[in-house]
Amino acid sequence: MEFRSQGLSKQDVFSTMDEYAMTDMPMHDGRMMAYVYDAGPEVDEVAKKAYTRFLSANALDPTQTPSLTRFENEIVATSIAHMQGDEHCVGNFTSGGTESCMLAVKTARDYIRDKKTLNGKPNLVVPATAHAAFHKAAHYYDMELRLVEVDTDSFMAIPEKMAAAVDENTVLLVASAVSYAHGVTDPIEAIGKIALEHDICLHVDGCIGAFVLGWMRRMGREVTPFDFSVPGVTSISMDWHKYGYCPKGASVILHKNRDIRRHQIFTCSQWTGYTVINTTIQSTKSGGPVAACWAVMNFLGEEGYQRLIGRTMDATDKILEGLKEIPELKMLGKPEMSLVAFTTDEFNVFHLVDEMKARDWIIQPQLGFYGSKENVHLSITQAVLENVDDFIRCLKESVAAAKLLDNSEPPETMLQMLNQVQPKMLRGPGFNALMAQFGMTEDGIPDRLAGLNQVLNAMPPELTKAALTEYFNELFTPAA
Ligand SMILES: Cc1ncc(COP(=O)(O)O)c(C=O)c1O
Repeated sequence: MEFRSQGLSKQDVFSTMDEYAMTDMPMHDGRMMAYVYDAGPEVDEVAKKAYTRFLSANALDPTQTPSLTRFENEIVATSIAHMQGDEHCVGNFTSGGTESCMLAVKTARDYIRDKKTLNGKPNLVVPATAHAAFHKAAHYYDMELRLVEVDTDSFMAIPEKMAAAVDENTVLLVASAVSYAHGVTDPIEAIGKIALEHDICLHVDGCIGAFVLGWMRRMGREVTPFDFSVPGVTSISMDWHKYGYCPKGASVILHKNRDIRRHQIFTCSQWTGYTVINTTIQSTKSGGPVAACWAVMNFLGEEGYQRLIGRTMDATDKILEGLKEIPELKMLGKPEMSLVAFTTDEFNVFHLVDEMKARDWIIQPQLGFYGSKENVHLSITQAVLENVDDFIRCLKESVAAAKLLDNSEPPETMLQMLNQVQPKMLRGPGFNALMAQFGMTEDGIPDRLAGLNQVLNAMPPELTKAALTEYFNELFTPAA
């Protein structure tokens, strides 16, 4: 594909983009239980205006853009207060939860290495329910990830098991508030004691939960202690682009003090260009996300957020009540806030995802892992409140429909065959042949994915990983 010889008209640019977006999921109708957090048209308008106003500003050199530094410092100060931090706490604005978590790992590694000499690869001790971002950090930084099993009823981390995994090269413990998959908070007070005993860092991943939990506490609901008020917690990640209802590209990483945060900052004057001083992973950084975050934060204020969080919790309470009316479904864990996981022993749970999609609802499949059976996840937001009755009705219909579908296990012969396959054999033609069996072709994804999800769930994890990697290696094929 070459550049166009003549540019398109403005009108054609946008009509072409609209055409491309026709098959995208609708983001604003309160029927998505994952990925999007919609606060309604007014908040959207404020965010868009602020975003475009600062779109071209570059946070690379804060001396040139004091406005962006001011937005950032005010967002961070508000976040610290929300997380009950003291006057020593500091933090930065990042592009999202993964960047915040990756910075927490890098900072802990360099802070501990500065304090003491390690005798090998630094490691981090992480419950099996912690977000994939910690796997990614270990992978990118070549650190050892020590994955620790969790309680298979509550899906909470087991402090004793985490303590047993710590050795002289451990730099960081991780706990979630809340975990994405099951929406539960780990026993952070007990994990904090382990961190203090070994004089290592403890990161609380509050990317999805901390914002809501902070409001729930302020609104008089009981929440498990999770923030800087817990001794031993050295850093917290909290995303504004989730339940803070800000546009994508908005999170904070908060540290207990400057001595720790110092190790987050990357500075380079040993090259021929301008000096680089980066607090986060990005260097050139658009002012759009930080400006939009500041605008939404100030537009909503306490009254606005309490309304949105109240609506979120009302929707959650109603959905939990509705789930009780469906005996085929069983909850995994007891959700602390608005994230819910449920499964069934009666049919292929992935059929529910397809059936709900046929009824214009997006719910999320989760593969089984470490005692967490394959299941369906809901991230419940304020936007679904008016649609809850329809959701429960559709779910009941979907359960009835799923029971009538093919619910046999994948054939034993197929599983045996897959057990023989080496991950490398899935590269190129091997992968295409496998995908074709499930209707995945160059033309797109079929409406029904339950069969494929079932096989991905049953495959050895290394093979699943190879298959999914290959899928994206193919999906991102330069346009003809
Ligand atoms: C607990 C938790 N941590 C980290 C992340 C990663 O956040 P992001 O998708 O913004 O990178 C998520 C995303 O859902 C999450 O739920």
